[in-house]
Amino acid sequence: MRLANKVAIVTGGGSGFGEGIARRFAAEGAAVVIGDLDQGAAERVAGEIAKAGGKAAAVTADVSNSSQMKALVQAAVGTYGGLDIMVNNAGMPQRNRPMLEVDEAAFDRLFAVNVKSIYLSAIHAVPEMRKRGGGTIVNIASTAGVRPRPGLVWYNGSKGAVITLTKAMAVELAPEQIRVNALNPVAGLTPMLKEFMGGEETDEMKAKFISTIPIGRFSTPQDIANAALYLASDEANFITGVCMEVDGGRCI
Ligand SMILES: NC(=O)c1ccc[n+]([C@@H]2O[C@H](COP(=O)([O-])OP(=O)(O)OC[C@H]3O[C@@H](n4cnc5c(N)ncnc54)[C@H](O)[C@@H]3O)[C@@H](O)[C@H]2O)c1
Repeated sequence: MRLANKVAIVTGGGSGFGEGIARRFAAEGAAVVIGDLDQGAAERVAGEIAKAGGKAAAVTADVSNSSQMKALVQAAVGTYGGLDIMVNNAGMPQRNRPMLEVDEAAFDRLFAVNVKSIYLSAIHAVPEMRKRGGGTIVNIASTAGVRPRPGLVWYNGSKGAVITLTKAMAVELAPEQIRVNALNPVAGLTPMLKEFMGGEETDEMKAKFISTIPIGRFSTPQDIANAALYLASDEANFITGVCMEVDGGRCI
């Protein structure tokens, strides 16, 4: 098992990519704490992992709220004895629209959930990793942060920030054996896709998007989970500051 004896937190683990990551990590021996705004979703995934013989707990938490992020980290420490892996996956989309049509409240929420969460996660998780003599952080950014496209300006910028934060955190935390990496998924068939496409998701729109992905399909939670597993495992113990596209060649 590639994550035996590791304790991991997966934010946004109640759906989509996060659910795939939580399931895969648990199957590889990690004790997984699923932090999600949606209590029912987090409990469903944790319950199914436990039923399959894995170790998982569910915590209701908003990643943009410091006290809730602290409680999430403390739940991992209290339940499983420490923290080795933090996957900052929870994020929110921007509805595809002209940049000037996104109001200030929507902008603030987008940056609180997609960017401030990385800061809050570091504030609360890094001290716990120091107690273990090291750890690893995987941030879920996006191809949107590498190849920005019209209609998603503020979302593109939030994911660009995640990519730069990943590299900056990696270089500062490296001497403490805390590795920080990111994944840049291309669009996947999760509830978020509809927003990226402007609130409507027709077969024609999907086919048009797929035609821009050389491998010829959307990403899946399994694709993202496989890449996250490698980065979080000891197999990647010399890899830090990498922001890896998981995109079927889209960013070439
Ligand atoms: N789906 C895509 O096309 C795509 C592409 C590239 C990157 N991403 C990124 O991947 C990550 C996961 O996206 P997904 O498509 O699996 O989404 P999803 O909508 O399937 O799941 C997101 C989960 O995060 C939770 N969540 C949302 N806001 C939260 C908050 N403030 N605090 C805690 N939990 C919260 C939701 O309840 C949900 O369970 C996001 O960071 C997203 O930006 C998605």
